[in-house]
This record gives sequence, structure tokens and C-alpha cells, in this order.
Amino acid sequence: MKKGMLWIGLLGLIMMMAACGAENSGTESGGEEEQETGETGESGGSQEASGGNGSEADLEIFSWWTGAGEEAGLNALIDLFQEEHPDITVENAAVAGGAGTNAKAVLATRMQGNDPPSTFQVHAGEELNQSWVAADKMEPLNDFYEEEGLMDKFPGELIDMVSQDGNIYSVPVNIHRGNVIFYNMSVFEENGLEPPSTFEEFMEVADELQAAGVTPLALGDKEAWTATQIFENILLGTLGPEDYQALWDGEIAFDDERVVEAAETFKQMLGYVNEDHASRNWQDSAQLVSEGEAAMINMGDWAKGYFSNDLEMEVNEDFGYFAFPETEGNFMVISDTFGLPSGVENEDQVKQFLALLGSVEGQDTFNPLKGSIPARVDADESNYDEYGTDTIEDFREASLAPSLAHGSAASEGYLTKANQAVNIFVTQGDTERLLQSLESARSQE
Ligand code: GAL
Repeated sequence: MKKGMLWIGLLGLIMMMAACGAENSGTESGGEEEQETGETGESGGSQEASGGNGSEADLEIFSWWTGAGEEAGLNALIDLFQEEHPDITVENAAVAGGAGTNAKAVLATRMQGNDPPSTFQVHAGEELNQSWVAADKMEPLNDFYEEEGLMDKFPGELIDMVSQDGNIYSVPVNIHRGNVIFYNMSVFEENGLEPPSTFEEFMEVADELQAAGVTPLALGDKEAWTATQIFENILLGTLGPEDYQALWDGEIAFDDERVVEAAETFKQMLGYVNEDHASRNWQDSAQLVSEGEAAMINMGDWAKGYFSNDLEMEVNEDFGYFAFPETEGNFMVISDTFGLPSGVENEDQVKQFLALLGSVEGQDTFNPLKGSIPARVDADESNYDEYGTDTIEDFREASLAPSLAHGSAASEGYLTKANQAVNIFVTQGDTERLLQSLESARSQE
């Protein structure tokens, strides 16, 4: 695509995202985190808190990691960086909103105005490549990878996801898993239930829970990505990893009978969620599981960080986990990465931060708090609990699948439209309309 065209596309996207953000911000929701810019969290004593544009700090770190379940890992990483580099002033310029709902719109405006943060959170895959690399907004990091000895420290498939035409454009800090269901162990025990591994078993378990007066599946789709995430996992379970990839590559149509079947399964699953799903965010819905009002939740394992660190629940005592039905042996990959935007003044300092987040020490400081596993292949497993070590092992052996909801499988423009289509589907339940919208969004790419 020509650059001019790309910017017109991006502008449209910014406007769409801003409209979605505005829609979301007016809704009341129990326990919702504050929508603030420049929030630094409790441990951020050494950070500057100016927030917003025109940062005076040497290093402005932009992400959407604010509030419960999100910020602890980042704050620990920044604290570590400050210990090692007390002379560099850091601003934590995080913008609240799960999966970057608001942050991505703010970032797009800044990038368009040639006011990039020193470094920013971006998912490996299309979100990085189609939004920023294609627009010539990122610096290649090949020399940096060589200097830091990173070339063989990440799985090759992951390096490919952050590369374009032989150039590497970002450093992965973690791997989150998307195809996991967390569940309240006492609720399962009280009802004599075992974790389901097929869709059929899932529906059976859900029926029993419903009969017992428990919400089977917690959902908080005030931000639509949480529902998109369920659908992508159903697609993975129904199609298998190769055809799931083929779907995003445009080789399988949305009227393929297995995709239709997946949409029907999605509709059935949505029949088991809490009534107030549209007014909750992901943390609010995860709370339903911790309180035992709901039994299960499909959430990326940032929810593991939330359960363990914020809600002080014990893994394999208070909450358990299992692979999303029919996806055992597969791994829905979500990788948060940071790169070097073109035109930043303090390149050396950005690289110093990237070196830390790409190091064993940095990854082993960040990931146990975040709920993710290290992206590096040589991290120290003794830092991770049973969920972490299990996931590290699964990741090594599983077939990997890129997440749509978290920016890897398709462009940001496509994802925005997919989220809208899913959001309409959640209320209307019209499978044909959902699949048509997903297909026609593709032809507009
Ligand atoms: C994802 C991101 C995770 C986590 C989650 C919820 O997109 O990769 O690190 O922050 O959103 O906000």
C-alpha cells in the first residue's frame, strides 16, 4: 500500500477508535479502573508523573498497563531500570483500557503528529508490521540484537513475527497465552465437575452450573475484545492451527461450514454468560470467578497475574486452569513488544531500556508479576509458579496460533471492524451477519 493511502486508512481508524473510546467511557461499571494518563502506580516513586504529550523525561514509556492486574510488572521493570540508571528520568505514560482500547488511539494520534513516545507497547505481528513498520515509523534493531546477543535468545517464530524484510523491529518482553480458561476450584468441586476438554463437555458442565444457580462463564465485554477473544479460540478449536492461520491469510472463507459451526458454538457459549456482561471490563468479570458467582472465564493469562497478585488467590488451590476446549496442544500467542520509533531524540537511552526488557533479569522481573511467560528461551524457571512452568513447557511443544483480538493475526483496521461485528453479534446473535461482516471487512483491507 502507498504511504499516503496508509495514512488515510490510519486516520479513519483513529476516528473509529476514538468514537469507540468515547462510547465506552460513559458507562458506569463496578470496580472499573480509572481512565487516566500518566498513572504511575504505587511503586513508581522514582518516576516522573507529568503524563500526556510533550514529556520532559528522558525516557517516556507508553503502554496500556495501568491498574489492577496490569501495572505491577511494568512498575517492577521501571524500578529495576531506575536502580541501574538513576541518571535517566523515566515517565510511565500508560493509558488505561484493556487490550489497548484507548492507548492505541492515543498512540496513533501521536505517531501521526510525529510525536512518538520514546518506546511503546505493541503486539508482535500485524499490529507492529502493518501499522508502524509499513508506515516507516520504526527503526530496525538488527545491530542492537547482535550487540546484545539476542539473536538466538528468542524462538525463531517470534523473531519472525517482529521482523519485516529481514529487519527486526521490536523486542518481545513476554508471551501471554490466550486459549486458557481459569476456573473457581471450589465451585467445580462443590458441583462435582471436571474441567471440560471438548465443546460438548463444556456445554454439559455449563448446563450443570446453570442448574445449580452459578453463572457458567464470566464475560466483561464493555470492551468488545473480550468476546472477540472467545470467538478466536473457538475458531482455533474448530479449525485447528493450520486452517485457523489459513482463515486469516484469506485462504478460507467465512462461509466455510466449519466457520459457520464455530459461530454457532460461539452463540451457544454466549448463552452461558452473566447478564451484566456489557457493563463490566475484564477485571470486573474476573472478580465474578474469584467470588464464586461465576465458575469460569476465558481470559489471557494477565488474569493469572490479577488472581495471584491483586486478588491473592492461590494457583491450583483457589483457581485452576485448562486449555480452551479443543485447543489442547495449541497456543494462542500474544506477545507484548517494545521498539524504537523513528525520530526519537534519546536513542541510546531507549536502547538501554530495551536491553533490560530483553534480558533474563528484566523478563524474570516482569513476567512472574504479569502472569505471562518469558519470551526468552533461557529465563530462570525457578521464578515462576506452577502455572508459569506448565505454560513454559506447553509453549515449547505447542503449535502456535496468532491472536486476532491482540493484534497478531490481522491489521489494526481489520481488528477494529471485527470487534464491532462481534459486539453486534453478542446482542443480536445473527451468525450470518457476523460472518458477512468479517468477510466484507476483509475485502476492504
Ligand atoms: C493485551 C496485552 C496484555 C494485557 C491485556 C489486557 O492486549 O497483550 O499484556 O495487557 O491486553 O489489557
